[in-house]
Amino acid sequence: MARMKKIGVLTSGGDSPGMNAAIRATVRTAIYEGVEVVGIQEGFNGLINANFTPLNARAVSNILQRGGTILQSARSKEFRTVEGRQCAYDQLKKSGIEGLVIIGGDGSFTGAHIFDQEHRIPFVGVPGTIDNDLYGTDFTIGYDTALNTITNAVDKIKDTAASHNRIFFVEVMGRDTGYLALSSGIATGAEDILIPEEITDVEELVHNLVSAKKQKKNSSIVIVAEGDDGGGAIEIAKKVNALYSDFDTRVTVLGHVQRGGKPTAQDRILASRLGNSAVYALLSEKSGIMVGLKNGEVKETEIDVAISKDKNLKPQLLQLVDALAV
Ligand code: F6P
Repeated sequence: MARMKKIGVLTSGGDSPGMNAAIRATVRTAIYEGVEVVGIQEGFNGLINANFTPLNARAVSNILQRGGTILQSARSKEFRTVEGRQCAYDQLKKSGIEGLVIIGGDGSFTGAHIFDQEHRIPFVGVPGTIDNDLYGTDFTIGYDTALNTITNAVDKIKDTAASHNRIFFVEVMGRDTGYLALSSGIATGAEDILIPEEITDVEELVHNLVSAKKQKKNSSIVIVAEGDDGGGAIEIAKKVNALYSDFDTRVTVLGHVQRGGKPTAQDRILASRLGNSAVYALLSEKSGIMVGLKNGEVKETEIDVAISKDKNLKPQLLQLVDALAV
């Protein structure tokens, strides 16, 4: 098989800080190897609508440090249909793009996997999501930045919480996974964390909060993952107040502030390494894989494994939250 001459790069799903650094690494590595690169705008929608822009090395200057994605992103509804994917395939063939670097999360990789099964389009996935929920990589691009954003916000909340003897329920992102909640809970010294992976027992939570009060703690933080089975932070606060009305509670939903901002140095380095490796994987005729970082080394994982296997939260970390809240 002749070496690829033209590849495309796109960002898909929820954006994450560091996606720009991954785009830059993809573009520059390809150019370094004499391969043309096309930027595909707005995720898979851009494939369907042939929203293509040729990218040279200067087109990605000064984006390494910027949050968001210069290519924009989307959760494409059309790409979920057979017709949409056929149209995307036709546009790719017309444009001469021979392989794709897809920067995104599990939803994007699921779409890419189906597309590959139907049309045999070579692609390599680069894990970009603040959720850190992909199997096959210790960290996803954007997770470290989001974690630091949450930590900074909760540190500020703790100042005011302590001044008023209040309990704060802080909701963080994570529809299906509690990585951000668990790690930020440890980083901020939360009293408790509520995550989708564990069944929430509100009575037990109230018991913990009452005992914290008895121990003369002047504030408590409860981190709630948005996808917790007990509800979001607003819901949980209501349930707690219904059982024990003596608490002075407040709720903060951090929302999309967690998805923006300058990527941390860790995320920039991760994105640079993975964008670079994705191009080399494509050029060595690999496809249907995700590049990730395992124990400090770049490793490849079959895409169906990356999206289907659960990346379990470490039970020791859950115990750590309990132990450090005494
Ligand atoms: O997948 C990333 C993520 O930020 C999740 O943590 C969150 O549940 C979701 O995206 C929010 O998506 P949207 O921006 O489309 O509302």
